[in-house]
Amino acid sequence: MSLSYESPGRAVHLAPGHAALYLARAASLAPSPHNSQPWFFAEEGHDHGFEVHLDGGRRMILTDPGGRQAVIACGAALLNVRMAVRHLGFRPAVELLPEPGDSAFLAHVGYAAHAPATPDETLMARAMPHRHTHRGPFGPDPVPDTFLDDLREHARAEGAVLQVIDAPEKLRLLADLVRTAEELHHADRAHDAELARCVGPDGVPPRACRHHPDRTLLAGRDYLGCVRRFGGPYRRCPGRTGTVVVLSTPHDRRADWLRSGQALQRVLLYAAAHQVMAAFHTQPLELPTLRAEIQTRLTAGRFPQVILRLGRTTQTWCTPRRPPAEVLGRDGLRARW
Ligand SMILES: Cc1cc2nc3c(=O)[nH]c(=O)nc-3n(C[C@H](O)[C@H](O)[C@H](O)COP(=O)(O)O)c2cc1C
Repeated sequence: MSLSYESPGRAVHLAPGHAALYLARAASLAPSPHNSQPWFFAEEGHDHGFEVHLDGGRRMILTDPGGRQAVIACGAALLNVRMAVRHLGFRPAVELLPEPGDSAFLAHVGYAAHAPATPDETLMARAMPHRHTHRGPFGPDPVPDTFLDDLREHARAEGAVLQVIDAPEKLRLLADLVRTAEELHHADRAHDAELARCVGPDGVPPRACRHHPDRTLLAGRDYLGCVRRFGGPYRRCPGRTGTVVVLSTPHDRRADWLRSGQALQRVLLYAAAHQVMAAFHTQPLELPTLRAEIQTRLTAGRFPQVILRLGRTTQTWCTPRRPPAEVLGRDGLRARW
């Protein structure tokens, strides 16, 4: 197969195999817990297909022992692959968990019929390199209700529910649970050490954590140990929290985590394409009792998968990724992982 794709201002001719490189680059731009990038990809002989695999060795052992968040990250990478295939002009033919005996083989993506990308798909494909995780206060303008409706619809299309938490008592409850989780994590030395190992040029760079984590209603993940060193709360501005949303699913199986990841990334890309960025606050979802409390008291029994704040900001930082050559192999070489 020989492909052409549009890159800003020029058409690029792709020799066999180059599409896989393009897809691996796109997939790698997905968010992942502490930038762990718990994935690898395989090209199925000369652009016949593309595989997404979980690299279980890269998950956070203490934060994410069951690999739920790592699979969500791979789901986000899968959504990027789908959008990149659409940008190339094909429909993706996606099979989730194609080999029942191999739970790390998360998805196979083939090239189906040729069809031009829709305006939304083009927007989302172009937003991939501009989407970055924000940590800190947002601008004062609320995210408009009509825009939140669009985001709800994008999540729903992927099998997840995006719920806005705006009632003051619910926001207070969620803020308390996030803070409790943050305190429990930091009281656990092994957990603290795991987090500290994630900070650096190959994980979360310190420049991406410029704000004290205590500046909004929801406690931020304290990557740099600021609360221990400088105390908190710190110049709190709750009015700049942005819009708090929880993404949830009716079930909590591996396929649901994959769907959550695709829903997450679809929401993040659509938001970024409209200059709305997101901050993550997933700490209470890493502790079973706190997650269960959110499930019963906030998400009507659905399983909470991701907690986000959404808002406008001009201050986001790009976080590095492993090069495509490190994450892309051939199907025949899968065994090496
Ligand atoms: C499932 C999941 C959970 C995450 N949880 C947090 C979090 O609690 N706090 C945080 O600051 N970032 C969190 N992140 C964002 C990652 O730190 C971020 O994606 C990674 O550092 C790469 O940066 P980028 O998103 O700017 O490309 C999470 C990402 C995912 C996919």
